[in-house]
Amino acid sequence: MSMTQYTARKSLDAIAKSADGHGSGLTRTLGPFSLIGLGIGCIIGAGIFVLTGKAAASYAGPAISLSFILSGVACAFVGLCYAELAAMIPASGSAYTYAYATVGEIFAWIIGWDLILEYAMGASTVAVGWSGYFTSLLDGFGVHLPAAWVNATGTVVKLADGASVTAIFNLPAALIVAGLTALLMLGTRESTRVNNIMVAFKLFVVVAVIVVGAMFLNTHNWVPFIPANTGSFGNFGWSGILRGASVVFFAYIGFDAVSTAAQEAKRPQRDMPIGILGSLVICTILYILMALAMTGLVPYQKLGVADPVAVAIDATGIGWLSVLVKFAALAGLTTVIFVLLFGQARILFSMATDRLLPPLFSQVHPRFRTPLLSQGVIGVIVALIAGCFPIGLLGEMVSIGTLFAFLLVCLAVIHLRRHEPSTKRPFRTPGVPVVPLLGMAFSLLLMIGLPLATWLRLVVWLAIGLVIYFGYGHRHSVVPAPGE
Ligand code: ALA
Repeated sequence: MSMTQYTARKSLDAIAKSADGHGSGLTRTLGPFSLIGLGIGCIIGAGIFVLTGKAAASYAGPAISLSFILSGVACAFVGLCYAELAAMIPASGSAYTYAYATVGEIFAWIIGWDLILEYAMGASTVAVGWSGYFTSLLDGFGVHLPAAWVNATGTVVKLADGASVTAIFNLPAALIVAGLTALLMLGTRESTRVNNIMVAFKLFVVVAVIVVGAMFLNTHNWVPFIPANTGSFGNFGWSGILRGASVVFFAYIGFDAVSTAAQEAKRPQRDMPIGILGSLVICTILYILMALAMTGLVPYQKLGVADPVAVAIDATGIGWLSVLVKFAALAGLTTVIFVLLFGQARILFSMATDRLLPPLFSQVHPRFRTPLLSQGVIGVIVALIAGCFPIGLLGEMVSIGTLFAFLLVCLAVIHLRRHEPSTKRPFRTPGVPVVPLLGMAFSLLLMIGLPLATWLRLVVWLAIGLVIYFGYGHRHSVVPAPGE
């Protein structure tokens, strides 16, 4: 195998052809509204329903809304880059495929391996959020699940009677993943209509929280708006806003997942940018208002719980809305887990089709017409991770992994403009190279806001990926090296 294999690139023509072949089982049914719905379905989840509370309580206070603005600006630059690539290369492998077409095989592998953090670990993170709202909902109905079985392994939980218990496993988190995996294995594809209904429910509740927040606002809760830094980086003050932005960045993840539906879009060239940027703009506005509402309803210190939106609404005394919030969170988080598990199987499918991964991941079951085994393997791993780890740690890993992928996507836009200037671009990122460079700079800034331990974990993860690439993918790849 020659050294040039590392930089082997898939031609845009080959991608377009294989997208058509691979797409023969997929029908082009999604219009702009469905794509925006798909985006919002995947975006609004554990980020706003869980992590915002923790980030406000521990890092930014009421200024968490500024964190949302900072994160939203970063995503806007990156979203413009995704829009160009998704319209130009409408294949379901998303950033992995873009990298294969631009910077070459080894980068494609790195990005594909890195996307596992976004999709698989993202699904685990949201499952832990689901478990928090599920437990809280049952508590409200007088059913108390044992603390040892609803928290991450090893967490010491203080009980109401003052005693403490060490948690064994987060069972509801693992079970929701198992259930959704079973549906995906048997071929129950998320129908657009069900997704749109769930999205409408989620949006209704989010808007209701904002309206109620405005009505019951106690502006004293916003004072001081930026609590003074406690002396260490990231604990309130301006650095706290940055760390808060890095954490709530998780809430925006998903606009990029619209690109994995490129092969099901009726007119991907026009509708991909609309789906990606439309869902991003709507969610940014809602998040900023929602963050203001939550911190305006209760003192931010009270939001560091598993169900912060419900806690904020409880302060208004509107009991029914609090219950509705929990149902909306459960429904909303379910669709996010579903889309992430589904997207993960697709990305691994693309990688295995290129033989960078074993054929197991590209096998489609003849009867169920799903990647049954692959989906099963993904489900077991995601469920175990969801059962064992706390949401904060998982969310930070997902954020750093996704930000790293974003950096490479912005780079790909600049690279392609230079090396494939004449390829048709139905959507052009404005202000190249400034906008992609700003996307990279902001992504890096948000990465810097994450703790050192998260960086170290990313390095270990990428190192494991490279070992697998040299041990397997590099030897089996079917994409010809340049000149071969
Ligand atoms: N943005 C998605 C969420 O917050 C991943 O759950």
